[in-house]
Amino acid sequence: MPALVLLGAQWGDEGKGKATDLLGGSVDYVVRYQGGNNAGHTVVVGDQKYALHLLPSGILSPTCTPVIGNGVVVDPSVLLSELSGLNERGVDTSKLLISGNAHIITPYNVTVDKVTERFLGKRKIGTTGRGIGPTYADKINRVGIRVQDLYDESILTQKVEAALDVKNQILTKLYNRRAIAVDQVVEELVGYAEKLAPYVADTVLVLNQALEDDKVVLFEGGQGTLLDIDHGTYPFVTSSNPTAGGACTGAGVGPTKISRVIGILKAYTTRVGAGPFPTELFDEDGDALRRIGGERGVTTGRDRRCGWFDAVIARYATRVNGLTDFFLTKLDVLTGWEQIPVCVAYEIDGKRVEELPYSQSDFHHAKPVYETLPGWSEDITKAKSFSDLPKNAQNYVKALEEMSGAPISAIGVGPGRDETIEINSFL
Ligand code: IMP
Repeated sequence: MPALVLLGAQWGDEGKGKATDLLGGSVDYVVRYQGGNNAGHTVVVGDQKYALHLLPSGILSPTCTPVIGNGVVVDPSVLLSELSGLNERGVDTSKLLISGNAHIITPYNVTVDKVTERFLGKRKIGTTGRGIGPTYADKINRVGIRVQDLYDESILTQKVEAALDVKNQILTKLYNRRAIAVDQVVEELVGYAEKLAPYVADTVLVLNQALEDDKVVLFEGGQGTLLDIDHGTYPFVTSSNPTAGGACTGAGVGPTKISRVIGILKAYTTRVGAGPFPTELFDEDGDALRRIGGERGVTTGRDRRCGWFDAVIARYATRVNGLTDFFLTKLDVLTGWEQIPVCVAYEIDGKRVEELPYSQSDFHHAKPVYETLPGWSEDITKAKSFSDLPKNAQNYVKALEEMSGAPISAIGVGPGRDETIEINSFL
């Protein structure tokens, strides 16, 4: 019953696609359990580069069944264009399964996301503008539209009416926008029904049966621990639970079924959007990390904010997710620095603090306390085992492991599929 959760241990964009893809050949099901097309995975297979937003990265592995769980929010137009884009490149997507309970991102959710951000002005979250937050808000307010609703036009119309009743008041009276017509939305959504029908399934049943049959199931988190609605840097977060518990609710499997929780950890830190980031760099080191690491959002094309590794965050991720392992990514990006600072604690109002403060105000005031580790200049992209790494790179990895509270079981040394050092097998 091997059920693994793979999730971002920082603010997302840690390189999860590569990690999922590495396991792809041995995994029977890859499941997304939260988020939507706000995520972005880049997967490199041979000389081909794929940018996925909504689909689980297992879609690229012919033996794997990709699953979009009930906890995901689905924009049908994005999903269909992502599928046809892959089909045009010869990728077979026919095994995809979509939960009938997953919520639909409607055109009015996207509109509300954009106008709300504009209205917030300087206080904006910096969302991806894909309608994620408003769709989850509708879900919790019990006015959401689910995938299964596409197959009953009368119910769908009633639900869209109920949702737009209030929204149109807000759009016209508060935001000075035009009202959105119910018929138009229903017509657009019904237009997707037939195309999506072959994929819609009772994914909870399928996944639990798969686990009973000893299949390998991988739950793939979008975004990252610090973007979690409950455990992240609220309000500068996404509107779902990327943390490990989210895999249970977002896919309908019990916590007793999860055997391993792997945190993807970048060898430095990045974030997109607004919000606190203690180790953020505003100098040429930050520019160099951005340039060498290719730190530009897969989904939005925005430059990512960059900074040194933060062990306080890594320890926090270990705790809230119950991590059993880390996959350290992009170690090669640090090649060439003589000295590499690592944040080991914070200083908050003159006091040294070892753990992430629960108070938002304290976190906003946190100043990083650095320890400096010696760097390396040798090319590490061809390293196949830990002992192939230069001594200083080995020591950097060992120091991170000690500070972060879980074993580093794999190390990414380049973007390619085979540019990974496996230390302990994940299966
Ligand atoms: P939303 O998820 O579009 O509502 O955006 C909320 C916050 O999460 C913003 O700061 C986004 O930049 C951030 N975010 C959403 N998805 C990702 C992701 O996949 N990687 C990194 N940041 C993300």
